[in-house]
Amino acid sequence: MLKHIYTLVTTIALVLTVGATTALAAGGGNIPPQQEWSFKSSSPHWDTEQMFRGYKVATQVCLSCHSFKYIKHRDMMKLGFSEEQVTKLAKELDMGVDDLFISPLSAENAQMAYGTEVPDLSLMNLARPHGADYTAALLTGYNNPPKGFSVPAGKSYNAYFPGNVIAMPPPLTMADQVEYPESGPQASVEQMSRDIAAFIEWTGEPTQIERKNLGVFVLLYLLIFTILSYFLMKRIWLGVKKKK
Ligand code: HEC
Repeated sequence: MLKHIYTLVTTIALVLTVGATTALAAGGGNIPPQQEWSFKSSSPHWDTEQMFRGYKVATQVCLSCHSFKYIKHRDMMKLGFSEEQVTKLAKELDMGVDDLFISPLSAENAQMAYGTEVPDLSLMNLARPHGADYTAALLTGYNNPPKGFSVPAGKSYNAYFPGNVIAMPPPLTMADQVEYPESGPQASVEQMSRDIAAFIEWTGEPTQIERKNLGVFVLLYLLIFTILSYFLMKRIWLGVKKKK
């Protein structure tokens, strides 16, 4: 019996390993480097200034091709922006606070220009392994192709895109392409990439901070409950033993 279980476990482990390896090999994209994110830190939170910078990149660069169809300016009030601030931001873009972020690029024009669809970015970090790390790496991954690697006309080489040939022209190509607040970091390509990746994390799961904090609360509750029930058990058994 034990031998059978052993064989079964080994087989499952082997299948999983082979599966994972082939999946990686088929992907053809490099593993994105892990970055530090405020929403993944030991006290998870949205970095409001980073969110603002990410919003700038989103609306000044990405929105010309991509929609973020699940968000509107009003949602940003949950990040700590006032109603006045979001109204002003929306107005600068000729939008209302309750308008969704829809790209002016239509699906047909995208198909004509890029030969593929331009995906909505709202949920992109959730849809890809490595989430924000992947998005940030993708935007900085437009390297020269290795020798002998041919890139079809109109496409670009990208170290992190599966298959390495991407239809998106490099969207962030030079420092200060987006105007950043003077008080913060310089708008280098790396910085802009991190900021927009963080912003997309928020558009994908705006409630994740509450969820994580709730998780800690639930764990604490369970811990206290366990300790209490331990002592309760001891008391009950004490009574039982005495009766004997
Ligand atoms: C000029 C149009 C254009 C702009 C501007 C643009 N993109 Fe794209 N993007 C595309 C196209 C086209 C694709 C589809 C690529 C493909 O499937 O080969 C794409 C795909 C993507 C993907 C999906 C990659 C994947 O794994 O499938 C991400 C993430 C992305 N873009 C992020 C961004 C971000 C962030 C910005 C702004 C900084 C941006 N894009 C700006 C055209 C654009």
